[in-house]
Formats: sequence, C-alpha cells, structure tokens
Amino acid sequence: MISFIWAEDENGVIGSSGKLPWHLPEDMKYFRQTTMGHAIVSGSRTFRSYNRALPGRENIVLSSKDDFPDGVVVIHSVKELCQLVKQHPDKNYFVTGGANLFSQLRNQVDRLYRTKIHHTFKGDTVMPTIDYRKFSKIQSIIGVVDQKNKYPHTFEVYQKTV
Ligand SMILES: NC(=O)c1ccc[n+]([C@@H]2O[C@H](COP(=O)([O-])OP(=O)(O)OC[C@H]3O[C@@H](n4cnc5c(N)ncnc54)[C@H](OP(=O)(O)O)[C@@H]3O)[C@@H](O)[C@H]2O)c1
Repeated sequence: MISFIWAEDENGVIGSSGKLPWHLPEDMKYFRQTTMGHAIVSGSRTFRSYNRALPGRENIVLSSKDDFPDGVVVIHSVKELCQLVKQHPDKNYFVTGGANLFSQLRNQVDRLYRTKIHHTFKGDTVMPTIDYRKFSKIQSIIGVVDQKNKYPHTFEVYQKTV
C-alpha cells in the first residue's frame, strides 16, 4: 500500500527554498518512528534535502537522473513505482514528498499521516489538495509544546474509505 507522510501549516505550506519552513524536533521524531523499517519514496528535491539516505529504511527516489548514493533505489516514473507497490502487497510505501510527488500519487494513496502545525509560515511549496471525503480520520494525537517544539501541532492519520 501507499501512505503519505508530511507536515503542513494552517495554509497547507510544506516547504520553503527546498527546506522545511519550521524546526519541530517532535515531528522529526514522529517521522523517524513511523517510517523506520519501511520503504520511503521521495522526489529528488526532497531526497536532496535529507543530504543522505535515511538509515534503517529502504530509500527509493523518483528522478529522471541516476546520480544518487549507493544503496538508493532510483526509479524513473510513477508507473514503475506502482508496479513495485503491486509486486509487494504486504509492504507499506511511505511517500515523503514533496508536493510534486504527492500531486502525482494522490489518487493512489491509501493512508495519510498528516502533521498539522497550528501556525502560519512563509513558503513556496504547498500541499496539493486532497479529497478528504474519501478518507476517515483514524487517529489524532495532540503534540507536546515545549522549549524545543514551539508550535502547537497534531499528528493525524486518515484511512481511505472509498
Ligand atoms: N513539510 C513536509 O512534510 C515536506 C515533505 C517533503 C518535502 N517538503 C518540502 O517540499 C519541497 C520539495 O518539493 P517539490 O515538490 O519541489 O519537489 P519533490 O517532489 O521533492 O521533487 C520533484 C522532483 O522529483 C523528480 N520526479 C518527480 N516526479 C517524477 C516522475 N514521475 N518521474 C521521474 N522523476 C520525478 C523530478 O526530479 P529530477 O529533476 O531529478 O528528474 C522532480 O523535479 C522542499 O521545500 C521540501 O523541504 C516538505
């Protein structure tokens, strides 16, 4: 199956100049825990923002190019990705973004892991529209706000229903 995992602000902003617009270590921890041991699928811009392959996960990158570190699986089309997902029905493929990739896969996604940050930021990349009528919220956890995590945030999970 395909899952999306991302964080967005109140206006759906997810990125700024190739990076995240915020610093929220609790969300990074949630991302790490949720994706650990699974396959992650990233657009090449998002992959480059990690600066390396993420440990403990199968790193799959979508790109028209091939210059990625050893151990990274590079695929060149959404069709190729869908074939891979079909070949492994027991695996959860976590699409980690960015907007470009989310947009192409939003009709194929089965589950959404959305961190909603209750704040607004300046940015240049916005989450594509998702038809939430096709999903039902199965989890909602209010994140802890403290010295290091200044913005109120909620970890939500949605499951496709239709
Ligand atoms: N807030 C969050 O949770 C979150 C999550 C992820 C990303 N982001 C942010 O979002 C921004 C990046 O998003 P983005 O939309 O600009 O870029 P992106 O989706 O990460 O990457 C786009 C690139 O992926 C490759 N690609 C995409 N679809 C492809 C296809 N069908 N076949 C072959 N290659 C394909 C192309 O790269 P080539 O040029 O290599 O062919 C394309 O230019 C950054 O600011 C990042 O920090 C935020």
